Amino acid sequence: MNQIPTKTLAFQVDADRSRPQAEVQQRVVELPLAAADTVDDNAVLVAISHSSVNYKDALAAVAHPGVARQLPLVPGIDAAGRVVASKSANWAVGDAVLISDEAFGTSADGGWRQLAWVPESWLLPLPSAVTPAQACALGTAGITAAWSVQALVDHDCLSGTFPLLVTGASGGVGSLAIEILAQRLGCSVTAVTGKLSQESRLLDLGADQVLLYDDFVDTTTRPLLSTRWAGGVDTLGSAALATFLRSVADGGCVAACGLASGTDLNLTVYPFILRGVSLYGIDCTRYSAAAKAAMWRKLTTDWLPQQGLQNSRTVRLDEVPETVFALLENRHSGRCVVELPPVPGV
Ligand SMILES: NC(=O)c1ccc[n+]([C@@H]2O[C@H](COP(=O)([O-])OP(=O)(O)OC[C@H]3O[C@@H](n4cnc5c(N)ncnc54)[C@H](OP(=O)(O)O)[C@@H]3O)[C@@H](O)[C@H]2O)c1
Repeated sequence: MNQIPTKTLAFQVDADRSRPQAEVQQRVVELPLAAADTVDDNAVLVAISHSSVNYKDALAAVAHPGVARQLPLVPGIDAAGRVVASKSANWAVGDAVLISDEAFGTSADGGWRQLAWVPESWLLPLPSAVTPAQACALGTAGITAAWSVQALVDHDCLSGTFPLLVTGASGGVGSLAIEILAQRLGCSVTAVTGKLSQESRLLDLGADQVLLYDDFVDTTTRPLLSTRWAGGVDTLGSAALATFLRSVADGGCVAACGLASGTDLNLTVYPFILRGVSLYGIDCTRYSAAAKAAMWRKLTTDWLPQQGLQNSRTVRLDEVPETVFALLENRHSGRCVVELPPVPGV
């Protein structure tokens, strides 16, 4: 690269939080890019070719205060591309990278922009077999699915007689978890989805059985239900997680990573003290850099979800709002990759 550009195209969200019900503004704008001599030592400039739209990004895009911790904000918790300038001894120009950090897209600008200076510790290397678009098709959803599966491995849930269950199955985390469990680890998996239209896709991913959300969820107050599952992955919370925990077999484990249907959990302690069930919380941002790098390596090698790499939908920056609302209104399935326009001369 001859010269570092001074501007980058970005999708920015803003709202006046001092005014109740203030309108959220979403706009594609040119933002200034910091000069190399003004950024921290060890900062790396990445030309972002791809990002993605996660549930968390959809919340950031409507300025949800729990996710958009600064305004204005460029959302996008995943981004991939190549290094175009580096003040770090560990990253060289031309390296293909994924950007992943808790602050990225929440308390610092994220990946819905062409260029980003980031601390070197936010970068993970892309293996040669994985393109930036594919890295974003996996992204945080893939990493979360992998940590959830790891919890089931660690709790010895994969070799029992009961199948595993995955809720929110057609979503990013759910579909990637199904593929890893069924295709990479040979487990029997039941998928719970609210969308009948997704049944054949979930069977293709490797689920043995697909249950509709309304048939699965038990709204009675019975403290325990018949045992049906060795454990599994919950992306929904609320009534789905409460039903799930009440029907897990002795010694089973549920990796709870999501809240797509709610944050409440109406339950007694019986599943835990009469069946020894474990509820294992997943927060993919809380692992050390070394653990995160090791899990990313596992996800992109032994556990690589091939269908997940191929089946994402791609949108441009100006098409992001439509995807955001589809996600928030539960009209969207699978992964959505955002393609950024290249910066001329970079
Ligand atoms: N803990 C962590 O570190 C971590 C990391 C990433 C994501 N997450 C969380 O994990 C969850 C899933 O994330 P994602 O990126 O996979 O989201 P996603 O792609 O939007 O998938 C969520 C899925 O949940 C189901 N769903 C959505 N709204 C629902 C509702 N109101 N009632 C019932 N089901 C509903 C839908 O699947 P079906 O139609 O198939 O049921 C949807 O596809 C989110 O809550 C996200 O915040 C947590």
